[in-house]
Amino acid sequence: MEFAGMAEAAALLMFIAFSATAAAAADSSRFDDLFQASWASDHMIYDGSVLKLKLDNFSGAGFASKNRYIYGKVTAEIKLIGGDSAGTVTAFYMSSEGSNHNEFDFEFLGNVTGEPYLVQTNIYVNGVGNREQRMDLWFDPAADFHSYSILWNPRQVVFLVDETPIRVLRNEEKKGIGFPGYQAMGAYSSLWNADDWATQGGRVKTDWSHAPFVVTYRGVSINGCEVAVEAGEEEEVRRCGGSEWGKEGRYWWKAPEMEELSVHQTHQLMWVRAKHLVYDYCTDSARFPSAPPECGR
Ligand SMILES: *[C@@H]1O[C@H](CO)[C@@H](O)[C@H](O)[C@H]1NC(C)=O
Ligand SMILES: *[C@@H]1O[C@H](CO)[C@@H](O)[C@H](O)[C@H]1NC(C)=O
Repeated sequence: MEFAGMAEAAALLMFIAFSATAAAAADSSRFDDLFQASWASDHMIYDGSVLKLKLDNFSGAGFASKNRYIYGKVTAEIKLIGGDSAGTVTAFYMSSEGSNHNEFDFEFLGNVTGEPYLVQTNIYVNGVGNREQRMDLWFDPAADFHSYSILWNPRQVVFLVDETPIRVLRNEEKKGIGFPGYQAMGAYSSLWNADDWATQGGRVKTDWSHAPFVVTYRGVSINGCEVAVEAGEEEEVRRCGGSEWGKEGRYWWKAPEMEELSVHQTHQLMWVRAKHLVYDYCTDSARFPSAPPECGR
């Protein structure tokens, strides 16, 4: 990825102090401290208070964290594309690098005007994905900003929408089930055209007469154990990955209350799954005749 010399991108990103996440921003508050354009900086816009990614028939755009982290919580406050968003995908995710990489994905699949967006989540462990879940939402994600978070610690990975958990992967390594630990991950977001699969199975194509498609960010925050580039990876894994959660709750994402859902959160998750789940790979027996081990089918 090429950032040096992207004067334009630097200028665009400089101002963005994300007030909405100030409370959670002990470690980080400014967009340009944390992120940089990863492609098509000319399709990123700063209009005074928010960051926008733009998709037209020439390009989409994306940004990436400057640093990598082992455990933490990342949150983006996003307003998705209004009106016709069919064929577009907006992604917000964490990923490590290499062929055995881990990845936690939010993918927002657009739709024709008046039809619901779907939120697809996926998890890669040691390079293997195929763990898609899809749900619709209990609000219109294009009407206003909502927060989308990934919490990652040694005990669980939790996807949250407005702090309501919508998906959990528990660490069950004791049962021999793979869990994404120990690989340092970056945080990313991007907008692109995926009309070969995104909307109604690819049947609805992007209508370019409605371009540009614009996704708006009011805040993006990372609270995580930042991997020091100069330190050895092994040392950083030990520092960030140990079971202690630090003096004065410095590593609060590993605190005991973060190790599992509260009773209230468990009820929220049950409600979301009952009311909004559209697809779950765990129950797709045509695709997986024998259940993936983490599904406990
Ligand atoms: C992109 O869309 C514009 C406006 O609809 C059109 O004029 C232009 O020819 C298109 N470009 C490409 C490469 O399709
Ligand atoms: C789009 O709307 C259709 C019709 O309501 C629905 O079946 C589909 O799940 C929606 N979302 C996507 C991404 O196709």
